[in-house]
Amino acid sequence: MIENITVFYNNLPDGHLLKLLHDEHESIKYILDELERELQSLNNYSISDDAGSVIEKLKILTANLLNAEPHHQREEDILFEAMEKSGISGPTSAMKTEHVGFREYKDKLKNQIDNINNGEFKENKSRIRYTATGLIGFIRGHIEKEENILYPMAFQTLKEPELWQELSQNSEKRIGPCHFQKTS
Ligand SMILES: [Fe+2]
Ligand SMILES: [Fe+2]
Repeated sequence: MIENITVFYNNLPDGHLLKLLHDEHESIKYILDELERELQSLNNYSISDDAGSVIEKLKILTANLLNAEPHHQREEDILFEAMEKSGISGPTSAMKTEHVGFREYKDKLKNQIDNINNGEFKENKSRIRYTATGLIGFIRGHIEKEENILYPMAFQTLKEPELWQELSQNSEKRIGPCHFQKTS
């Protein structure tokens, strides 16, 4: 039983797969916070021409969400696969289904932002706001489930340090890092 989740992540050794995944979540959560802020500022503009810099930032942030793909791949192909080999399949398949869901969501948001200047600005803005707000809540909830339930479950199921080493090596070799762009 893991009593304190913060202590659990703080105590993981550098290079541990779960530490890397947890750090990637921190980057993703930061992107979501920025996205939320930029959506607020977009709301202040009534003409698209005036909102140029906000729109640029929204494009970078959406690209960054798409650039988080290696993280999801790392979970599916390395961590979940190892858990499934140990007999855990329900929780991993639920997470994979959510990945499919937010991949579609991200594409939809990118499309809406790319087309912000086609048609009514006011309508486009509210469409973007609706999609982005849904996506932000979806990803935050997903991260919470992984950090509080799934990762600790993996840690308690996969006991051998050698296996974790092998998983980290495979992750580095087969997946590689996420690349995020800065917004300013
Ligand atoms: Fe995930
Ligand atoms: Fe994740």
